[in-house]
Amino acid sequence: MATWACGSCGGENPEGMSFCGHCGAPADSPWRCADCGGENLPATRFCGHCGAARSEVAQAPQEPERDVADALRSFVAEQVADVLIEAGDKLPEERRLITALFADVSGFTSLADRLDPEDLLEVIDPVISGLSSIVGRYEGYVEKFAGDALLALFGAPVTHEDDAERALHVALEMHSELARLCADLPHDAELTLHVGVNSGHGIARILGSEARMDYAVLGDSVILAQRLESAAPPGETYVSEMTVRLAESRFDFEPVGELTLKGKSEPVAAWRLVGPRARGRSATRKGVSTELVGREQELAVLSDTLDRLAYGAGAVVALTGEPGVGKSRLTAAARARAEERGFQWLEGRCVSYGAGLAYWPYLELFRDFAGIRIDDATEGASARLAGALDSIGIREELPFFGRLLGLTSTDTSGEAARLEPEAFRRALHRAFAVWVEAAAREQPLVIAIEDVHWADASTIALTGELSSMCLRASVLLYLIARPEGDSVLGEIAAERTTIRLESLGESGVDALIESILESSSPAGLASFVARRTAGNPFFVEELLRSLRETNALVRENGSWTMRPGWDARTLPETIEEVLSARIDLLPRTAASALQTASVVGRRVPLPLLEEVATDVPDLSGAVDHLVASAFLDHIQEEGERALSFHHALVQDTAYSRILRRRRRDLHRKVAEVAEGLYGAGDNAIDLLARHLYLGEAGPKAFDYLVR
Ligand SMILES: Nc1ncnc2c1ncn2[C@@H]1O[C@H](COP(=O)(O)OP(=O)(O)OP(=O)(O)O)[C@@H](O)[C@H]1O
Ligand SMILES: [Mg+2]
Repeated sequence: MATWACGSCGGENPEGMSFCGHCGAPADSPWRCADCGGENLPATRFCGHCGAARSEVAQAPQEPERDVADALRSFVAEQVADVLIEAGDKLPEERRLITALFADVSGFTSLADRLDPEDLLEVIDPVISGLSSIVGRYEGYVEKFAGDALLALFGAPVTHEDDAERALHVALEMHSELARLCADLPHDAELTLHVGVNSGHGIARILGSEARMDYAVLGDSVILAQRLESAAPPGETYVSEMTVRLAESRFDFEPVGELTLKGKSEPVAAWRLVGPRARGRSATRKGVSTELVGREQELAVLSDTLDRLAYGAGAVVALTGEPGVGKSRLTAAARARAEERGFQWLEGRCVSYGAGLAYWPYLELFRDFAGIRIDDATEGASARLAGALDSIGIREELPFFGRLLGLTSTDTSGEAARLEPEAFRRALHRAFAVWVEAAAREQPLVIAIEDVHWADASTIALTGELSSMCLRASVLLYLIARPEGDSVLGEIAAERTTIRLESLGESGVDALIESILESSSPAGLASFVARRTAGNPFFVEELLRSLRETNALVRENGSWTMRPGWDARTLPETIEEVLSARIDLLPRTAASALQTASVVGRRVPLPLLEEVATDVPDLSGAVDHLVASAFLDHIQEEGERALSFHHALVQDTAYSRILRRRRRDLHRKVAEVAEGLYGAGDNAIDLLARHLYLGEAGPKAFDYLVR
């Protein structure tokens, strides 16, 4: 087999690899001499500057901090850059769930034969910068360029709960961006793009001041993404099973069967990315498959509000609750009630990457109103919009909504098209007010905005204006948000009815499990699941799915039983994505206190934490923050001040991110401190033995266990 030697570490690699499998350097990268620091051509073995034999790689020269910061900001999103800069080289190594996107542009090679290098750059530069700026917009991290390939990571250094979805949006936009660029490129460049996407666990760390991720240790995830890319036909994106699983509620995929990929002994199942899923009737994570459990009281409040709407009494209602608690599910039930009464229900969703997308939920809502598909900007779409406005007698507003929806065929010469942004904004808000009034004259109207905690500034402003109108018309403005959206809700409407959705109790969890299993649940399962999930229905569903998939929960002769010996700590990736994203939103000191606490246990005595977490500068500030954001609760235990994880799954997620070596050290430290605090008396033995065992301090743990 033909091989090449890596310019960076000297490792041998098979021909055709774009990156070194040993250190992750691009295939054609130069190497730096350890003695004199001079840069040398890739394939050379001696330094051309000083004659020294090639050995260890010297550190890249230290760049002044500000330059690094500026450079970073120019190619990653602000939030990602901030994390990198704040951390310096102290960003801890962590095990993360990462989605890797590998994109390869083909067609450069034939161009390279025809063009001289300078002309070739004229083609390559706009393509590479066009593609990588898309990654930045979705807060991904462009890990590497190698010739005509690009590797982007989502999930490190910053995790979002929808990293897999972001990667897929990026893939789709890359294909359309390349098509657009090709039309303008010089030299008749005919380029095509192949993309592969895969999600999996890896270790993220930052290498030196370059803030490069050492993705060599990310291993398999990245390699599989690259293999999928190489199997994808031009213009297509191939996706692995794990990514499909993480994104299936928002995207459509088509199976392409099992692929035999180079370097993989087993065939790998792959899917073709079709596109974003046409919006269903609700925005629940999984679609509404099970019966609605509980929520009678909340539904009664909503039904009353709807009844009053029929008499012209509008309202602003906010529904708040933690992720996965069932806000969207309850909303689906409320929508059914509204539609039973013959009311019109229009819905738009704010998106986590939408801060820069003005009026996003209103675009969705208005397309819904006019019956226009998301990618339809044709004359047919304009005609439908005109018809919809006509039906409520406000056709004259067509140019404003046409411009908002990007329907150029509506009116390119009129007043609306020529307005400056600020004047257009005012005119648009006025048009919306006219529309709401006219639409509600026909029949009561519900305007539902989902996930308001992610609302962009223009959405907040417009919704605020509409909220004051609602009270005077048959309009219900129904706003759904997570707790962190409270301040945005306050900005939108000072006067509102708020429904706070709480987790399900144990009997609710039991009912939910029965409706998922379609039969009664085995003894002990409901209380186990309730304890693990704290009654969060999303976590209940995912935990159950994971128990079934790992054969911990099996159906035998028509009834379900639990298999002994399964690992209660395995964490479904879907849950991990959500919780990891919440941890990443924490300030670093709080995140690090949370991790140390996760090593101590579900219950964390404060004096113990104080002595273990000595590397957290302001521990009490960090703890306050964690309590305020519902990660931890204060409890009193046997007269001792203690903390308890609000959620066992939060503890697991935080714990799962710590690398084994550090875990081991922390467990040992916990044991040491505990022995100092509580002695080695009978009531401390269990604690000591557990931490010594997990700290891999075998013999000593054994001593305690046999006592
Ligand atoms: N009361 C319920 N009965 C049955 N299933 C429920 C109930 N509440 C939630 N679920 C299910 O749990 C999952 C999560 O619920 P949902 O998507 O409504 O949460 P959410 O509060 O909207 O979360 P997010 O803030 O992430 O949008 C969904 O699959 C939903 O169908
Ligand atoms: Mg929701």
